Amino acid sequence: MHHKVVLIPGDGIGPEVAQAAQAVLSATGLEIEWFEHQAGVAALESGSSEVLPAETIEAVKQHGVALKGPCTTPVGEGFSSVNVALRKGLDLYGAVRPVRNLDGLKTRYSDVDVIVVRENTEGLYAGIENVIKKGIVTSIKLVTEEASRRIARFAFEYAVKRQRSKVTVFHKANIMKKSDGLFIKCAREEHQNFSESIEYEEMIIDAACMRLVQDPTIFDVILCENFYGDLISDLVAGFVGGIGVTPGANFGQKCSVFEAVHGSAPDIAGLNVANPLALIMTGVMMLRYLAEQTGDQDCEQAANQIRDAYSACLAAGERTSDLGGDLTTSQFANAVIKRL
Ligand code: NAI
Repeated sequence: MHHKVVLIPGDGIGPEVAQAAQAVLSATGLEIEWFEHQAGVAALESGSSEVLPAETIEAVKQHGVALKGPCTTPVGEGFSSVNVALRKGLDLYGAVRPVRNLDGLKTRYSDVDVIVVRENTEGLYAGIENVIKKGIVTSIKLVTEEASRRIARFAFEYAVKRQRSKVTVFHKANIMKKSDGLFIKCAREEHQNFSESIEYEEMIIDAACMRLVQDPTIFDVILCENFYGDLISDLVAGFVGGIGVTPGANFGQKCSVFEAVHGSAPDIAGLNVANPLALIMTGVMMLRYLAEQTGDQDCEQAANQIRDAYSACLAAGERTSDLGGDLTTSQFANAVIKRL
C-alpha cells in the first residue's frame, strides 16, 4: 500500500532528527511518499513571510498525516509559538505522550509505563495575553465545556483501546475553582460512560508531582489540561531516559501530526549529536496509526521491526551521548537500519 506523509523538519536539531527518522522509516521497505513542507524559522529562511505558511497547513489537511520536527519559539518576545498555532489551526485537540522504560536502557526508575493525554487547544496556551497598563499584564486561562468533554472522552476511549485500566486527572481545582473545576466536572461526567472498564481518579497536581517522583508506577493514563500536560510530559520523560527517547502525537478529527516531546535544542543544533530516537519512536507511533487507519498490516509489522531494532541497539550500547553513548545522530540511525 502507498502512504502519503507530510514531513515538517522544523528548526534547530529538527532537520537532523527528521532526516534520521525518515531514513529509518524508509529502510523498512514501506512505500511512503514524503511531502516536505516548512514551519518555524526554517519557513522564514526558505523565503516565506509566515512562520506557519498556509501551504504547510493545507498539505497536512490534504494528506491527513504529518511527521514533524520541533520549531523554535523565541522566549519573552517575537512571534507566537508555531506549534501552538499548528495544533489550534488543525484542531489537533488530543496530545498523547507515552512514556515507558525501554528494553536495553537502564534508568533510575523501572517499570514506568505511563501515557500522558493533554488537551492541546486551550487553557493558558490560548495565547490571550493583555497589557492592562504599564507593569500589569494578564494571561487568560480559557476552558470550555466542549473542549474539556472532548479531551476527557478521548482519554477514556484511548485508555480502552490500549487496554489500560485507570485514568488520573491532574488539576488545581482547589484554587482555580471555575476553570479547573469545569475541566474535572466534565471528566467526571464523561467517565460515567466508561465506569465499567476504566477506574477514575483525581489528584491535585502539586501532590501528584510528588507521588510521580516517589513512584511513577502507580499511574496509568494521566489526563491534563494544556499547560500541566506540557510540564508533566517532560517530567515523566526524565524517568525513562529523557526527552531524547520520548515520542508524541497530536490527534484531531481530520488529521494527526506526530512530533516528539523535545524542542529544537539550539545548544546542540547542527552538531549531529542529537538523539533521533524520540522522533524514530514517534515514527513508530505514526506507522501504528497508519495501520489502524488503512488496515495495512505491513505498517504494523514495520513498526515492530523498528522497535526491535532500536531496542537491540540500546542493549548493545549503541547510543547517542545523552544516553551515555558515543554515536552521532546519523550513526545511530544507521545502526538501527543495520538491525532492521
Ligand atoms: P529542548 O527540548 O529543545 O531542550 C532541552 C534540553 O534537552 C537541551 O539541553 C537539549 O540539548 C536537550 N535535548 C532536547 N532534545 C534532545 C535530543 N533529541 N537529543 C539530545 N538532547 C536533546 O527545550 P528548550 O531548550 O526548552 O527549548 C528550545 C526551543 O524549542 C524553544 O524555542 C522552544 O520553544 C522549542 N520547543 C519546541 C517544541 C516543539 O516544536 N514541539 C517543544 C518544546 C520546545
